Amino acid sequence: MIVIRRLEERDVEAVSVLNGTAFSMPWSPEDFRHLVADENSLYYVAEEDGRIVASLGVTNVLSEGNINNVVVEEACRGRGIATEMMELLFKEGDAMGITDYTLEVRVSNAPAIALYEKLGFVSEGIRPRFYERPTEDAMIMWRRKR
Ligand SMILES: CC(C)(COP(=O)(O)OP(=O)(O)OC[C@H]1O[C@@H](n2cnc3c(N)ncnc32)[C@H](O)[C@@H]1OP(=O)(O)O)[C@@H](O)C(=O)NCCC(=O)NCCS
Repeated sequence: MIVIRRLEERDVEAVSVLNGTAFSMPWSPEDFRHLVADENSLYYVAEEDGRIVASLGVTNVLSEGNINNVVVEEACRGRGIATEMMELLFKEGDAMGITDYTLEVRVSNAPAIALYEKLGFVSEGIRPRFYERPTEDAMIMWRRKR
C-alpha cells in the first residue's frame, strides 16, 4: 500500500539516494533537511512497505510555487503515484496561498512533460543550456490560476 505524507527528518537520507538515482546534480541531504523545517515549503514522500519510493515538493515565493525534485522510483512508475502526489501538492499549496506553479524540465523528458501537461502546465519558454551533465535546454512550464 502506498502512503503519501509530508517529508520528515527521518526520510532525508532515503530521499537523497532516490534523487541521486534520477538526477545528475541532485540536492544534498542538507538541502532536504532544510526543507523539513522551511515553513514556505511543502515536501512529500510516497512510502511503500516502509520504503521511500517517490518525492516531490514546492517552495512558495511570493505566491509562486516552485516545484522541484519530482521523482518516482523506476519500478513504481506508471501507477499514478506522481499524479496523486501533485494533486495533494496543489490542494495544500493553494491553501498556503500559492496562486501559480512553475517548474523546469529537460526538453527531452517526454514522460515528465506529458505528466505536467496532463496536470494543466503549459510551456512558456525555453531556457537554453540550463542543465549540465549533460548540457540541455530547460522547458519552463507554468500552471496559472487565472
Ligand atoms: C516523470 C515521473 C515522475 C512520472 O511519475 P509516474 O508516477 O510514473 O507518473 P504517473 O503514473 O502519475 O503518470 C501520469 C501521466 O504522466 C505521463 N507519463 C508517465 N510516464 C510516461 C511515459 N513513460 N511516457 C509517456 N508519458 C508518461 C502520462 O501522461 C501519464 O498519464 P496516463 O497514465 O494517463 O498516460 C517518473 O517517470 C520519473 O520519476 N522520472 C524520472 C525523474 C524525472 O524525470 N522527473 C522529472 C524531473 S522535471
